[in-house]
Amino acid sequence: MKLSLTLLFVFLLLNSHAQSTKSNVDEELVPQYELPEILVSEKGRKIKKPEQWEKIRRPEILHLFVQEVYGKVPGEIAPPEVIVYEDRGEAFGGKAIRKQIDLVFEGNGRTLSVGVLMYLPKAASPAPVILGYNFLGNHAIVDDPEIRISESWVRNNPSLGIVNNHFTEQSRGFDAESWPVEKMLDAGFGLVTVYYGEVDPDYDDFENGIHPLFYKEGQDHPAADEWASIGAWAWGLSRVMDYLETDSDVNAKQVIVFGHSRLGKTALWAVASDQRFAACISNDSGCMGAALSRRRFGETIGIANKNFPQWFCGNFKKYSGFEDYLPIDQHMLLALIAPRPLYVASATEDLWSDPKGEFLSAQAASAVYRLYGLTAIDDEQMPSPEHPVGGVLSYHLRTGKHAVKPFDWEQYLQWAKEYVVH
Ligand code: GCU
Repeated sequence: MKLSLTLLFVFLLLNSHAQSTKSNVDEELVPQYELPEILVSEKGRKIKKPEQWEKIRRPEILHLFVQEVYGKVPGEIAPPEVIVYEDRGEAFGGKAIRKQIDLVFEGNGRTLSVGVLMYLPKAASPAPVILGYNFLGNHAIVDDPEIRISESWVRNNPSLGIVNNHFTEQSRGFDAESWPVEKMLDAGFGLVTVYYGEVDPDYDDFENGIHPLFYKEGQDHPAADEWASIGAWAWGLSRVMDYLETDSDVNAKQVIVFGHSRLGKTALWAVASDQRFAACISNDSGCMGAALSRRRFGETIGIANKNFPQWFCGNFKKYSGFEDYLPIDQHMLLALIAPRPLYVASATEDLWSDPKGEFLSAQAASAVYRLYGLTAIDDEQMPSPEHPVGGVLSYHLRTGKHAVKPFDWEQYLQWAKEYVVH
């Protein structure tokens, strides 16, 4: 009897692990699931007012995300030295000033430089800004010969001239479609951007990037409850925020964090964990971004943990294949951003990111926005493509692939003007 029970348990465990790395994109095969309650505290108390949310439920949820998903930041290091390379360069035909600085962190006898590129509209100073990490280096977001090229590690991509894990001139301006800087300036926003790999190169080692600057003696890897890469990238955005608070050309009360894909996951965690940020835009952030994990649609926790073991903390690994045991789901991450404006967007062909799971998550998080009397997602059904819904919490589905497109930015800028800058 005992043996057969043990065998059954081992079978279930193996089966669950096998399932966890399989991907489903058939709506019919989405399992039955129950989301953890947002508005009931751990002691079973109903949360009915913003004060109860802020004092009781929000801290409980935040703690669970730190403990089980993103890991804690293990202590502090000294504020970085700020090296100014360019203070007021003329850009976009005199419409904007360009600034380039390095934040140089020091710890354990090592240094790490993080290059920040800024374009600020002259017509709106101090300017509200969009702050976002880029995938391909600051020089890739605009075809501007003045932008310094990062010397950090980057995954090889010979078609972009990225060889020996280094950027070259060839990728200058390559990603400009994802970063319509002039449109942002015309709408009255500045842009602040950083190459994410400068804070932590995106592969499974914790020897470079920011982590070693924090290690205690003898440590060479974050502990199970300590930050991994997404936690580190989010921390980096907060350090950029520290700098923005000192820059009189920037309105630090109106910093909107934007991120696409893994950087959308990062943006959500950064804004959830640092309440100085005014708002958040999550573009196709998918699994462990805006999408509900319990749907197990597209990328699952098991797949993400297997392919990107560096993203989440050690404690998170136990949820591969065991979504129902997670004490949170991603609607709760979105809710941590309330009452600040939040925009979640998906794309029709991006099934890997589970557009419907992103919509349902935003819909469920809307309960917290409503506590504050704010407009959120009241729609029962997912909207059709190119039909944004909501208000302070908004959602849209765009036709097309996993990318950031002009349609997305048109919605974000219009929404930001309405809900963030007033
Ligand atoms: C992979 C990964 C996603 C991630 C994406 C990206 O597809 O599975 O989770 O969002 O890369 O960052 O582009």
